[in-house]
Amino acid sequence: MENTVEVKTTSMPRIGDKAPAFKAVTTQGEIDFPKQYEGSWVILFSHPADFTPVCTSEFMTFASMEERFAKANCKLVGLSVDGLYSHIAWLRTIKEKIEYRGMKDVEVKFPLIEDITMEVAKKYGMMQPGESATKAVRAVFFIDPKGIIRTILYYPLSLGRNFEEIYRVLIALQTADAFSVACPADWQPGDDVIVPTAGSCGVAKERMESKKDIKCYDWFFCTKKLGKDEVLQKITKK
Ligand code: BEZ
Repeated sequence: MENTVEVKTTSMPRIGDKAPAFKAVTTQGEIDFPKQYEGSWVILFSHPADFTPVCTSEFMTFASMEERFAKANCKLVGLSVDGLYSHIAWLRTIKEKIEYRGMKDVEVKFPLIEDITMEVAKKYGMMQPGESATKAVRAVFFIDPKGIIRTILYYPLSLGRNFEEIYRVLIALQTADAFSVACPADWQPGDDVIVPTAGSCGVAKERMESKKDIKCYDWFFCTKKLGKDEVLQKITKK
C-alpha cells in the first residue's frame, strides 16, 4: 500500500450484534462497557482528536443536549485515541473559553474514553485507514438496554454530525420497539407510522377495506396515526 500506514481493524461490529465488551479509563473514572449500561440505551461515539474545531463544535452540541437524551433513558459515552490528560485539558478549555452558537460554559459530564492503544477503536471499527491511520472516524453506535447494537452511523473527519438526527434515530428506535411499528422516511414524533405488512391475503383485504384508523397506500404499505404525546409519554422518563 503506497502512502498509507497499515492499521488492522480487528473487527467491524454490525447491527444486531452484541456490543463488544471492554473496560476503559475515562474522564469520569473507569467504565465496564456495556455491562454497566444494562437497562439503559447508550450511544458510544468516537471523534478524531481533542483540540480540533469540528470535534469541539460536536462536543458542545452533544453536551448541551445531554438532558434530552437522559430523559429518553440514554447515556452518552465518547472516545478518541488521545490520552486522559489531553481529554481533561480539552474539556476544561471548552468550559472555560469557548463560546459557540449561543453555547457557553458547557460542561461535558459524560465519560470520554482514553484509547491511546486504539484497542477499543479497533474493536468497534472506528479506525478506517483510508480516511486516517491515526485518528478515529466519527462513528456513532446506538446500543439498546440489552447491549445489542441497533444502529451504526459513520461520518468522515471533515463533517460534523447532526445531533438532532442522532436524537431522532434514538426516539425512532424506541418507538418501533414500544409500538411494534416502523418509521418512514424523515419520520418525526407525531408523524404517521408504518404498521407491519399484512401476512395473509385476508389481512391484506381487510386493511384495504378498512375505514378506521389504518390508511393504506397499497396492501403492503399501510400507516396509522401515533400522537407525539403518546410516543413521548411511553418512552421518556418523568
Ligand atoms: C476537527 O475536528 O476539526 C478535525 C479533526 C480531524 C481532522 C479534520 C478536522
